[in-house]
Amino acid sequence: MIVHFIGAGPGAPDLLTLRGRDLIAACPVCLYAGSLVPKEILTHCPEGARIVNTAAMDLDAIIAEIKQAQADGQDVARLHSGDLSVWSAMGEQLRRLRAEGIRYTVTPGVPAFAAAAAALGAELTLPGVAQSVVLTRTPGRASAMPSGESLQSFAATGATLAIHLSIHQVDTVVGALTPAYGADCPVAVVYRASWPDQQIVRATLGSIEETLPEDIKRTALILVGPALAAEGFAESCLYSADYDRRYRPQTADSPWASWSEHDD
Ligand SMILES: C[S@@+](CC[C@H](N)C(=O)[O-])C[C@H]1O[C@@H](n2cnc3c(N)ncnc32)[C@H](O)[C@@H]1O
Repeated sequence: MIVHFIGAGPGAPDLLTLRGRDLIAACPVCLYAGSLVPKEILTHCPEGARIVNTAAMDLDAIIAEIKQAQADGQDVARLHSGDLSVWSAMGEQLRRLRAEGIRYTVTPGVPAFAAAAAALGAELTLPGVAQSVVLTRTPGRASAMPSGESLQSFAATGATLAIHLSIHQVDTVVGALTPAYGADCPVAVVYRASWPDQQIVRATLGSIEETLPEDIKRTALILVGPALAAEGFAESCLYSADYDRRYRPQTADSPWASWSEHDD
């Protein structure tokens, strides 16, 4: 018996991996994490599958479901929104499964920040503007931030910030970031990226509070950084015609001239 953790993607049902879909179809038990996992994805479950929304359950109850499936010899598909590597609570479940000696696999999903960038048509790492993306959040009622992970300290890097779980605290975000980024720094809020009711709001740190519609209160990402509106950035070397590189040696004595794909 195996528990398959599967990233269910940001919302659009077709942003699920083929591997995730096939695993869901092969598991007689499916545990899914609440409202952010689109119901259409559950249609991949086999007929008669036990399908459980874990939104109202505590960790003990979730593990009890898994142990019951183990007793019945039934594999479990465990769905979380987006990807599993960030804010999925997978870590604590895996620790329990290791303690119980229950096997598991992990199948990645499309994270919300990637869906938001796609909705914006934006590359978050532009040459000479930003080469790092920080996935972060503001502190929540149940989740304090470790010391050293303040928005102010990330802002000091000038990186592109993808701020999760914080749309209800835009004022805090603006207050923390404006000293480093400046009031004219571009901001984009993407509400429910990839869902049919997706909304995009573009503004600056100085104007986002007054621009943001009142009804955007959850399931939104705040992206901040100069890369969001940069136009005058340099082109990358990757496609530069005169850049000597493995796939396009420029001269016969280039170190790449004798390289063949089979060497790698
Ligand atoms: C508990 S975290 C889950 C993150 C998820 N594991 C991922 O890979 O993106 C939930 C937060 O992610 C962001 N989020 C999740 N889905 C989103 C979507 N479709 N559009 C915009 N933001 C989303 C919001 O900031 C939301 O508060």
